[in-house]
Amino acid sequence: MTSQVRGVQLARLLGQWHALPGRRRSPDYAALAAAVRGLLSDARLPLGVRLPAERELAEALRISRTTVTAAYRELRETGHLASRRGAGSWTMLPGTHRVASTGLWTPLDDRDMIDLGVAALAAPAELVPAARAAAEDLPRYLAGAGYHPTGIIELREAVARSYTERGLPTSAEQIMVTSGTQHALDLVLRLALAPGGSVLVESPTYPNALAALAARRARISTHGLATDGTGWDADLLLGSIRQTRPKLAYLIPEFQNPTGHLMPAELREPLVAAAHAAGTDLVVDESFVDLPLDGTTLPPPIAAFDRHSRVVSIGGMSKPYWGGLRIGWVRASAPQVQRLAAARVGVDMASPVLDQLVAVHLLGRAPTIVAARRTQLAAQRDALLGALAQRLPDWRVSVPRGGVTLWAELDGPISSALARAAEEVGVRLAPGPRFGLDGTLERFLRLPFTLPAADLVEAVGRLAAVRYDLDRGTGRPRWREPAVIA
Ligand SMILES: Cc1ncc(COP(=O)(O)O)c(C=O)c1O
Repeated sequence: MTSQVRGVQLARLLGQWHALPGRRRSPDYAALAAAVRGLLSDARLPLGVRLPAERELAEALRISRTTVTAAYRELRETGHLASRRGAGSWTMLPGTHRVASTGLWTPLDDRDMIDLGVAALAAPAELVPAARAAAEDLPRYLAGAGYHPTGIIELREAVARSYTERGLPTSAEQIMVTSGTQHALDLVLRLALAPGGSVLVESPTYPNALAALAARRARISTHGLATDGTGWDADLLLGSIRQTRPKLAYLIPEFQNPTGHLMPAELREPLVAAAHAAGTDLVVDESFVDLPLDGTTLPPPIAAFDRHSRVVSIGGMSKPYWGGLRIGWVRASAPQVQRLAAARVGVDMASPVLDQLVAVHLLGRAPTIVAARRTQLAAQRDALLGALAQRLPDWRVSVPRGGVTLWAELDGPISSALARAAEEVGVRLAPGPRFGLDGTLERFLRLPFTLPAADLVEAVGRLAAVRYDLDRGTGRPRWREPAVIA
């Protein structure tokens, strides 16, 4: 499953490589090699990708071939490139860079701990009234056995309506209710991916999706998102689908976790067309679709361009409503829903009826609840951005137009060290490498804005205090239990 990057594509990714900050008198070949290493460690350039031939890259960069030859030689020496005569050169990382991606739960008993590892809001005030109303509804279901593998009809209808309102006509038969979006992903993978199947994901991406893929022993390749601009590079994304023809691609087009990017309208149709031509199924995670901020308009859903049942959409209640509800869903063709339900019977039979009724009541009040969530999130995001600008001005952030997280570019490859130091001062972080493969992304940190503004400001103050200790090397390494990242 080797994909290849063309000379012009690499030249675009390299950008102003000859004028990188910190470059003084280093020769061109060393600057070029450093820029390629930078792309690799930021996961903008995937591992295992074939680089252009020396002559092709020299032409694209308008430099001499000897410079490219010397840069490739240096990359081989530092362990960033493997070459075989006549076959080409592939990107790699030196040594055994491996990162654990387990997300085990350990209960939080430290009240002073500010948990920035979980990107989810506390429950809305409407939850308890919705639960009471659901209990009142329950007798309607008690005469039956209570197993509804595709979900109770009222919830399926309510979810179908929300897709139709987004411009994607959907019937209840196309919806299957699950116990959360994560469960939806697991079921879809069970059905669509044989063990060891090939999957393309964004880098960075949602860590628990990587865990679900690891459980299927998927062979994962990545599409590196840019930190600025729109994130996805259309040419590279479509190119790698065409070249590697993965069995499946898992994407988060609406306010991507962790970067907050929104996939532009003009990429959506060609993406579906390329997936269809390559025989790739698209699993589109719409966890954050209800949370555009600042009046951002949403492009049409990816599934709106699907004519061949290539796109399966998954989503749920956790981000706009409450994670503790454990309600999610799959939108697919009616036959796919039936197959998913059959697979589910071997896993957990069905989702709890009472929780589904709570979800129906919450969705009935969606306009009020979601509007309040957006106002709250925008205010918390602005408080976080303000605190970062004041206390950690060397970190670069672009303002997310929706969702619940921002992706900060740090002032060095310190993310894991910072997370360890932050625990000592009562801040739990999800460091950059948790969002990728192979130990890349050390220069990045996901910061959710789901906690109250005062907690976010306090957390940034504590981070600023330990950031400068890192340079002095005063942090003590200590064993820590793994904690959940969501
Ligand atoms: C992209 C994405 N998918 C899935 C989930 C899991 O959602 P749920 O709680 O509905 O299982 C999350 C939660 O953080 C997420 O960010």
